[in-house]
Amino acid sequence: MSKKILVATVKPFAKAAVESIAEIIKKTGYELVLLESYPDPADLLKAVADVDAMIVRSDKVTPAVFDAAKNLKIVVRAGAGYDNIDLQAATDHKVVVMNTPGQNSNAVAELALGMMVYLARGCFNGKPGTELKGKKFGLHAYGNVGKHVARIAKGFDMEVYALDPYVDKSVIEKDGVTCVNDVKELYSTCRYVSLHIPANRTTIKSINYELLSMMPQNAVLVNPARKEVICEDSLLKIFAAREDFKYIADIAPDCAAEIEAKYPGRFYFTPKKMGAQTAEANVNAGIASINQIIGFFEKGDTTFQVNK
Ligand code: 3PG
Repeated sequence: MSKKILVATVKPFAKAAVESIAEIIKKTGYELVLLESYPDPADLLKAVADVDAMIVRSDKVTPAVFDAAKNLKIVVRAGAGYDNIDLQAATDHKVVVMNTPGQNSNAVAELALGMMVYLARGCFNGKPGTELKGKKFGLHAYGNVGKHVARIAKGFDMEVYALDPYVDKSVIEKDGVTCVNDVKELYSTCRYVSLHIPANRTTIKSINYELLSMMPQNAVLVNPARKEVICEDSLLKIFAAREDFKYIADIAPDCAAEIEAKYPGRFYFTPKKMGAQTAEANVNAGIASINQIIGFFEKGDTTFQVNK
């Protein structure tokens, strides 16, 4: 039976991704509804009214969206983090929520290393900077993004360490990465630490002064994850306490204005969330999303469901 599939993206996919999704939808005999760059969340409430499935990026999928979507059976977050979707409301409305793990992780990893090079070279100010080679680099979580970051960092000849209680030590060590036992060991060992943890009840504000103050001289905290995992009071405290501390993040913290005013040369923030903003990542995540929706409707496949 034909289904209406809404692609709702405040931050639109690359053209190639939309074309790929449209082609698959056409072949399946479903109907595509495209809502891009919508200025008002109310536009999403209108657009979901009669759709069976929805693909989103960081778009906020609130209880009001689920209330407005009478036929909705599945939402796929074309990406990794699903903190933008109210999972309880989805479950209450019997809507399946999925993500597309791994599909955009290389793009995020490339950005992390790109920001590191940029900062190490004084934001390309023409003065002598430093190199990444030989520096100790800690990965706080070793999921899809962490794995790609490790691979690229090893190309730079960095000494890579990782902490991830959910990943077997042998998996980490097979990649030539040193497995550490706890968070204190990671932060006290590594001059560079990159965050690859999701934003959830346990992790929000978990990167605090105690951890940051353990980092060695010339510490650089790299955050390609979510700004919410940082305790911003701690961030301001460490910036004030240690002249050698630097912070780079894919999207500015709420306290960016204070950092920008007081600590020039010690930070870089992307103006918009950029990690997954490549044509390749959009195509991968977009195609995975529509295939997961088709698999769900045609075969009842719920692999990648996150609200079980
Ligand atoms: C993710 O969680 O997959 C990334 O943060 C990318 O988000 P975006 O699709 O909104 O750019």
